[in-house]
Amino acid sequence: MTELSFDSLIERKPVKVDLDGVAVCVTRIGQEVFAIADTCSHSDASLSEGDVTDFKIECWLHGAEFDLRSGEVVTPPASIPVEVFEVNREGDNVIISSRKSAQG
Ligand code: FES
Repeated sequence: MTELSFDSLIERKPVKVDLDGVAVCVTRIGQEVFAIADTCSHSDASLSEGDVTDFKIECWLHGAEFDLRSGEVVTPPASIPVEVFEVNREGDNVIISSRKSAQG
């Protein structure tokens, strides 16, 4: 589990955070926060360096797009979804955790 401040997140400007050694891309859209794996499933580029449009993030390297809500590929060349992480809010705190550990 890792925490960051909601107020530190800039609208549609993803940040990379470390979650137990895993790089996670955290994106704020309005009052919502989404967390997906930061490593592109195509060729390991950092998704947090990409652009956000609607609920999609575009990998800067070859242009694959992923849905921030589901981790699904929206646009090739990637074909494998990226992992989605659990996001919880407690006041200004945004808590990111693995869905796998949340399910026990
Ligand atoms: S590394 Fe992301 S699309 Fe190729």
